[in-house]
Amino acid sequence: MNRVDPSDVRLPGRSALTRRARDFVVVGLCFSAVLFLLAVTGELGWIEAITAFAVSVSVVVAYYVGSAAFLPVSSPSGPQSTSPEGPQDQAIAQVLQALPLPALEVDLEGRITGFNPPADMILHLEGRYKPHASAVIRSPALLSAIERTAKGEEAGIMSVEVNSGPDETWRANVSLLQGTGHTLVMLEDLTPVRRAARARSDFLANASHELRTPLTALSGFIETMRGPAKDDKASWDRFLDIMAGESERMSRLIADLLSLSRIEFSEHIAPSEREDFTRIVRDAAEALQPIADDRSITLDIRGDAAALPVIAHRDEVVQVVENLLTNALKYSSAGGRVTVSYGDAASMADARGMAGQAWPESDRMTLLPAGGRPGVPDPSVWLRIEDQGPGIEREHLPRLGERFYRADQSRGGKITGTGLGLAIVKHIMAHHRGGLSVETRMGEGSAFGIWMPAAPGRTAGTKAV
Ligand SMILES: Nc1ncnc2c1ncn2[C@@H]1O[C@H](COP(=O)(O)OP(=O)(O)OP(=O)(O)O)[C@@H](O)[C@H]1O
Ligand SMILES: [Mg+2]
Repeated sequence: MNRVDPSDVRLPGRSALTRRARDFVVVGLCFSAVLFLLAVTGELGWIEAITAFAVSVSVVVAYYVGSAAFLPVSSPSGPQSTSPEGPQDQAIAQVLQALPLPALEVDLEGRITGFNPPADMILHLEGRYKPHASAVIRSPALLSAIERTAKGEEAGIMSVEVNSGPDETWRANVSLLQGTGHTLVMLEDLTPVRRAARARSDFLANASHELRTPLTALSGFIETMRGPAKDDKASWDRFLDIMAGESERMSRLIADLLSLSRIEFSEHIAPSEREDFTRIVRDAAEALQPIADDRSITLDIRGDAAALPVIAHRDEVVQVVENLLTNALKYSSAGGRVTVSYGDAASMADARGMAGQAWPESDRMTLLPAGGRPGVPDPSVWLRIEDQGPGIEREHLPRLGERFYRADQSRGGKITGTGLGLAIVKHIMAHHRGGLSVETRMGEGSAFGIWMPAAPGRTAGTKAV
């Protein structure tokens, strides 16, 4: 990435030359002193000493002149073209460098005469000699704002919104630099704010849609039971069953929404309790054993019974294991096998490998990366839940973990869900500085893996809490 090095821009060539000349003079004087001593002590004749001195002076001068030619002097092609000329320009250059947002200075002719590193990062200005603003900025609205401000047609700061891509919005604030007639353009990236606002409104739309569907079904059945099926008591049992299912779905959705908002609310409070990962995994699996039995699915737990201490919110990690295990049971066919393996590893990278990279030919994706700190040993724990379900198409993988995203919807599957389970898992794992990954083979099964730091004061392989 091209960056302007402020020292390149500001370093005046003369002071560098002076420093270099001083260095050469010092080296020359030392060399002369040695020659003089050799001549005085008779080690060297005067003729040889004078000849050696003359040769060394010529070498020094030749090197000095040669290297001076390569020192940074004002050249029309480098960033030096933006170097300040007067004290006012110098002040503007300093302000530009100090601004954390991308900022440009445009002169009366519409040329960019100054910019800071953030502006260079997005507009790639380094190495261009005073490019015309219209060669760099595509937005006609912003170019016209710069022109009008330079002509003094606009007093104060002009704010212009620029769409630089389908999902990218910037705000440009254009103002006149008093006394110079130049214009200052400061850019602010509105993309994250806009994305957050869109995500919020999508979330509300999805949540109300998901709630309305069972509600519509409920009121439909109530109306039928009051009207056409008023006397058809035989159908009532069937209707009541469906109504119970729909109301259960509604309460599950509300519970998931509350759970998500609770996790988001406590996201800034780091987990602080020392818990046993083994206990959490085994308890959660035990709680879901009846569901596995109902569907004749074999639940195979593979892992040492010894404690694996972690710093965690117990309920949250239980929720992670239950959500992943519920999915594995829900998306498996009856009579299949779900394998739950867990353990510890010497580093996050190893734990991530154990959790998410076990099948040789599979589609894999890390849905939440957790890298660990480079150079620091980071003992971790991992969990992998494998099923023999239908697998998940590759194109769905990047969107797993988005709220309300359901891959089976497009497969026309009959299995219901709200699409919040993995979003909850992802949030909780982020809260625990952990990771989440998925591995899948179409028609053969899926495996979801999580990993997170082990409690400090313990290395992989130690078995005490
Ligand atoms: N083990 C799995 N096998 C196949 N598909 C899966 C598996 N786990 C998740 N999926 C897919 O990922 C989607 C998202 O899962 P998620 O748990 O977030 O939602 P859900 O199970 O549909 O609903 P719920 O909010 O009740 O958990 C699912 O709809 C399903 O398409
Ligand atoms: Mg689920």
